[in-house]
Amino acid sequence: MPKTAQTFQAPKGFHDILPQDQKYWERLRKVVKTLAAEYGFKRIDPPIAEDSGLFLKTLGLTSDVVEKQTFTFKTKGGDSLTLRPEGTAGVMRAYIEHGLSVLPQPLKLYYFGPMFRYEQPQAGRYRQFYQFGFEVIGEADPVIDAQLLKVFYGVYSELGIKGLTAQINSIGCKVCRPQYRSLLKDYYRNKVGKLCADCRRRFKENPLRLLDCKDEKCQLFKNQAPHAVDHLCQECHDHFKSVLEFLDELELPYALNPFLVRGLDYYTKTVFEIWSDSAQTQAAALGAGGRFDDFIEVLGGKSTPAVGAAGGAERTINLMKAQEIKVPSAGVRPKVFLIQLGDAAKKKSLVLFEEFRKAGLAPAEAFSKQSIKAQLRIADKMGAQISLILGQKEVMDGNIILREMTSGVQEIIPLEKILSEVKKRLKK
Ligand code: HAM
Repeated sequence: MPKTAQTFQAPKGFHDILPQDQKYWERLRKVVKTLAAEYGFKRIDPPIAEDSGLFLKTLGLTSDVVEKQTFTFKTKGGDSLTLRPEGTAGVMRAYIEHGLSVLPQPLKLYYFGPMFRYEQPQAGRYRQFYQFGFEVIGEADPVIDAQLLKVFYGVYSELGIKGLTAQINSIGCKVCRPQYRSLLKDYYRNKVGKLCADCRRRFKENPLRLLDCKDEKCQLFKNQAPHAVDHLCQECHDHFKSVLEFLDELELPYALNPFLVRGLDYYTKTVFEIWSDSAQTQAAALGAGGRFDDFIEVLGGKSTPAVGAAGGAERTINLMKAQEIKVPSAGVRPKVFLIQLGDAAKKKSLVLFEEFRKAGLAPAEAFSKQSIKAQLRIADKMGAQISLILGQKEVMDGNIILREMTSGVQEIIPLEKILSEVKKRLKK
């Protein structure tokens, strides 16, 4: 490389998913896909960029995500687009745009894809991260909240993650929340001066978030603060009680957390987060969600209740690794290895490779290697059951050598019979 050549790294907070990690990703994708199918969710893939207004309107103007964390850019045509910081807004936009309310309700949708937030990168916190998410649209019954939490929690338990808890709370609805908000403000009014700068702002703009502050001095005050669950209207109270009863029925381990309020503003009634007791992830939730009954109406759709959840793929995978959860290797291990010696054999091997591949037996190979010893070593390392050796002489005679790798026994087989011979031996 010339001395002046510029070297590049992935942008801060963005990361590569390397081949050795793909097995974890494949496992997670598979578990999400299987559970989604079992619970009747259909896949949806909204685009990664949306009209910036979509997030401004739905996530809350004073939420951290909208205030500080969006990747927003102007297109050459002058439109303002934002890389999606989360998946719910795009899914709801698509629900309205494509008239999905005509489909049988509740409509269950799921997604798996990259999200973007301009955060200070640290362990488990990135600027590009993947989420898997589940949304159930068109049903207000509390049984839906419980079943949604069950499928979402199921992803983690199916992966074999240990030490999980679902923390749950209810933050009420537009009927009862204003009253709770003023109670909370009354409680904090004479303490504002002692709060952190963020909380002084939250006091004015979004008092519920005062309960969410991680600053030690603010934490001291929250313990005496009024709880939302004690100030719910009858409907929200009954709803929450039923959700908990359904969760008891499902034997899903949950803990009531009266301080759980969530960082996005669209929630109503039930909110929850999944936490693990592993040291590696104690600082942040693995996944989260809740009900958002006003969302679709805010976006200009017909008033439609909905509930959903999303999990961070990286945080989940970091935890799988920390808990040493075994996952099968990605891809299939080739059973056959193709060895070639000399130019004529190399040409013939290329064609033979295609013949085997089409028969569903794609062999492993090392076409760029010249020595038989090196190629056999690779075949051995890969754990191939059979090696096929093609040299100059074999090509001229129309034969190929079949070597059983465990015994080392070799046989000469006519080339035109080799595929059926290999199939026969692999069946044994
Ligand atoms: P959220 O709590 O903002 O909720 O994000 C859900 C999960 O995404 C988090 O628990 C975390 O695992 C992961 N996550 C968030 N930010 C980052 C980051 N910077 N780096 C790595 N992982 C991250 C939502 O996004 C809602 N849309 C969830 C939902 C779906 N509610 C209803 N439906």
